[in-house]
Amino acid sequence: MPRPCTMPPAMALLLCLAVLSSGGGCEGCRDDERATLLDIRGQFNYNSSLDWNSTATDCCRWEGVSCSSRTARVTGLDLSMLHGIASSTGLLNTTMFLPLQELQDLSLSGLKIQGCTPGAGFEVWSKLHRLKVLDLSYNGKLMESDVPSLVAISSLRSLFLNGNDFSSNMTIQKLSIMKVDTLDIGKNDIKGTIPTDICNMRDLQVLYLSDNLLFGEIPSCMQNLTSLRILGLSENNRLIVKFPSLIFAKLTSLEKLSLVNNSLEGVLSLSSLQNHRQLTKLELASSGNNFHVQTENPATNLPAQIQVLVLRNCNLNGNSGIIPSFLLHQHKLEFVDMSNNNLSGNFPSWLIENNVNLSHLVLGSNSFAGPLLPSKVHTGLQWLDASSNRLSILPVDINTTLPNLSYISLSGNSYKGNFPSSFSYMNSLQYLELSYNNFLDDIAAAFVGNMLNIIGLKLSGNHFYGSFSPNILLPAVKHLLLSDNEIAGKIPEKLCDSLILMTFDASNNKLTGLLPTCISALSELAILNLRENSLAGSIPSEVCGL
Ligand SMILES: *[C@@H]1O[C@H](CO)[C@@H](O)[C@H](O)[C@H]1NC(C)=O
Ligand SMILES: *[C@@H]1O[C@H](CO)[C@@H](O)[C@H](O)[C@H]1NC(C)=O
Ligand SMILES: *[C@@H]1O[C@H](CO)[C@@H](O)[C@H](O)[C@H]1NC(C)=O
Ligand SMILES: *[C@@H]1O[C@H](CO)[C@@H](O)[C@H](O)[C@H]1NC(C)=O
Ligand SMILES: *[C@@H]1O[C@H](CO)[C@@H](O)[C@H](O)[C@H]1NC(C)=O
Ligand SMILES: *[C@@H]1O[C@H](CO)[C@@H](O)[C@H](O)[C@H]1NC(C)=O
Ligand SMILES: *[C@@H]1O[C@H](CO)[C@@H](O)[C@H](O)[C@H]1NC(C)=O
Ligand SMILES: *[C@@H]1O[C@H](CO)[C@@H](O)[C@H](O)[C@H]1NC(C)=O
Ligand SMILES: *[C@@H]1O[C@H](CO)[C@@H](O)[C@H](O)[C@H]1NC(C)=O
Ligand SMILES: *[C@@H]1O[C@H](CO)[C@@H](O)[C@H](O)[C@H]1NC(C)=O
Repeated sequence: MPRPCTMPPAMALLLCLAVLSSGGGCEGCRDDERATLLDIRGQFNYNSSLDWNSTATDCCRWEGVSCSSRTARVTGLDLSMLHGIASSTGLLNTTMFLPLQELQDLSLSGLKIQGCTPGAGFEVWSKLHRLKVLDLSYNGKLMESDVPSLVAISSLRSLFLNGNDFSSNMTIQKLSIMKVDTLDIGKNDIKGTIPTDICNMRDLQVLYLSDNLLFGEIPSCMQNLTSLRILGLSENNRLIVKFPSLIFAKLTSLEKLSLVNNSLEGVLSLSSLQNHRQLTKLELASSGNNFHVQTENPATNLPAQIQVLVLRNCNLNGNSGIIPSFLLHQHKLEFVDMSNNNLSGNFPSWLIENNVNLSHLVLGSNSFAGPLLPSKVHTGLQWLDASSNRLSILPVDINTTLPNLSYISLSGNSYKGNFPSSFSYMNSLQYLELSYNNFLDDIAAAFVGNMLNIIGLKLSGNHFYGSFSPNILLPAVKHLLLSDNEIAGKIPEKLCDSLILMTFDASNNKLTGLLPTCISALSELAILNLRENSLAGSIPSEVCGL
């Protein structure tokens, strides 16, 4: 941030004179603002390395503080950097901020603030005439009764109240007289219907009501919020959205629309969204089973700029198996989830080929068959879920074709044969799920490579045989699922060296011998399942200590 004294000398001198005459020093911020900042910080307990040094005079250089380059007055304050908590009472002295007259942007996120000191609520900040952005998110126990006093701050344009514990839809109602363009009140526990007064907030461009307990139908008057660019209503399981819906057809400025795990009903023809020229993110997933999305007849032609597309569990194209044809023209996809739609035909590896920036592809619970791999190397793909399909052609070159995968699930398909050794050569791989196929291999010999980074390994429901040799115990593994195989022999004492192990399921195998008592060393172990084996002896009492 440039300050007066870093400007050309003549100009700096003029500005310094101006700053000096208002009580500041040539070093930058004003003495009174520096003192105010230290007072404000004094309201919090913190551990942080926050580099506020009361002997360094220029508070504009302090972490979390920004100043006007013209006046050197404090314009931005981000106290979330404190990683601290409001001191004993949890109450905030709002009056203390008033000397920061030029403040525009204030973040008090994640500080466990519970409210304001009695007699001076947030309305005090109406005297901060420039305050535009206020972030009170993730304070957890912020008193809901203090929220209405925020409406007095008429200069506010962006208000973040997400991640608190609000429970009443009256809170939304009371905020509805504000002229903000951004309101985030997601991740609370707000119960009830959406107050129709929200439709008066015509300036709204960004609205998040997601992750609450809202229910009932969304008010049709929301079609009047035509400035909306971003609308998030996800994770209100009983919030009803009936299609076709005039609301979304009219909100043509939408760039991002999220309706995940809402109670979606009726038929949505995606062609009703093709006039949404700015759309980059569309997320639809019904919490029920009465929602149908049509993309053909008439064929949809969404703008070729979609980055995030979720069409999960939405009876896509009436379970005809037809993949939306508009996807052929998309090249900017980064995240695609079309799981649980009974799509069929060859696995659409062209989605990977066509979209260089694709990092997540989730196509579980469909009926895809054929080869999985794209025809050329794709370094960006990190997450591939192709579970519960009809795949059977082993992806032998996956280590060269998709070298950056960190998660892959091929569980619930029709693969057979040996454990594919190419998985042993994927250095980024952390989660490998091959459960419920027909792999047939000697488990002791299967892992030829070094699989050093595997955290989760799921091989349940196959035909792995051979002895439980220590090389199954990969060094980083936390979740090891081997149930429903034919693994024999004793559980080696070496198991007790896997100190980070959290889940160990080897049920329904052919294990024999005793359960090593040293297992009590596995302090992270939360799930241990060894039923349906031929183990002998009693369960070591040490296990009870876990
Ligand atoms: C400071 O750090 C200690 C130890 O990490 C922690 O227990 C305490 O809660 C922290 N205090 C604050 C105010 O964050
Ligand atoms: C605080 O600022 C003074 C003066 O700028 C400097 O000498 C000192 O090293 C700083 N202390 C810390 C801990 O940064
Ligand atoms: C709040 O801060 C103001 C200004 O620093 C001070 O005068 C007042 O006593 C404080 N109020 C409380 C309750 O601490
Ligand atoms: C809040 O939700 C209830 C349903 O629980 C509804 O009757 C009421 O009208 C809603 N309040 C407002 C202000 O919309
Ligand atoms: C939209 O706003 C206009 C003007 O305020 C109003 O007459 C109309 O009823 C609103 N539309 C809906 C669907 O509420
Ligand atoms: C939605 O619901 C599904 C199924 O209950 C759950 O797995 C998922 O985590 C939920 N949330 C999102 C954002 O998908
Ligand atoms: C891929 O992402 C990069 C970096 O964000 C971006 O510059 C590039 O335009 C993207 N490519 C496409 C085709 O979207
Ligand atoms: C899923 O698609 C297959 C054809 O690929 C069809 O035979 C089957 O009936 C469909 N299942 C459902 C539940 O619609
Ligand atoms: C590989 O994945 C990591 C995250 O797992 C990501 O940061 C990195 O950019 C990816 N590499 C490429 C070439 O896309
Ligand atoms: C890929 O895996 C095969 C084994 O299937 C191995 O022979 C080959 O060396 C691996 N390639 C790379 C680049 O790791």
